[in-house]
Amino acid sequence: MIKISNASVDETSEIKRLLNYVWVDTYKEFFSQETIKYITEESQTIDKLKLEIENKNLLFLVAKDSSDNIVGLATAEEKENKIFLKRLYVHSNCQRKGIGVKLLLSVLKDFKNKQAIYLEAEKDNIKGINFYKKNGFKIIEDKEYKLKDDKFSTVVMERTSR
Ligand SMILES: CC(C)(COP(=O)(O)OP(=O)(O)OC[C@H]1O[C@@H](n2cnc3c(N)ncnc32)[C@H](O)[C@@H]1OP(=O)(O)O)[C@@H](O)C(=O)NCCC(=O)NCCS
Repeated sequence: MIKISNASVDETSEIKRLLNYVWVDTYKEFFSQETIKYITEESQTIDKLKLEIENKNLLFLVAKDSSDNIVGLATAEEKENKIFLKRLYVHSNCQRKGIGVKLLLSVLKDFKNKQAIYLEAEKDNIKGINFYKKNGFKIIEDKEYKLKDDKFSTVVMERTSR
């Protein structure tokens, strides 16, 4: 039985472990060691995550299994009446069991009066793109970035309530 709740600061280390594990598992084929090291050691730090959990303007949800282990998380925020889904991660050993959908529905419930939700996903992340398409998102824009020595391409996806 999976339960969704708001993240608390004393869960930050467990959240960081989950994020790092799933991030590396998802992106190891796309990015260099340097980028992976940057994201896992400098970008997703304990201090930055704590600030996010404490930020009242950011929704930070965790999914816990029946032993209270954190097996997934979602972060989202509202800007100019639009919802932005910033992260959606489910532990690699627990994927394809409906936890991602449960987290997404909890985000939508929290922002229930909003017309549209947006996210940005790596173009080659077939798992992620499939998941979002299955859940009513459409690609509306292509983007390109440079991070360290890696170039990466993303898609912006939108789901409207119309
Ligand atoms: C994307 C993600 C959040 C989905 O969570 P989940 O709990 O596995 O998803 P659910 O069980 O609720 O939904 C399953 C659907 O997701 C997609 N999906 C999940 N795993 C997949 C895989 N290995 N291959 C292809 N599609 C996959 C499919 O659409 C699947 O539906 P199907 O089983 O009918 O084909 C999860 O795979 C994940 O954390 N991936 C790594 C991080 C990531 O890419 N996040 C999103 C990008 S920002």
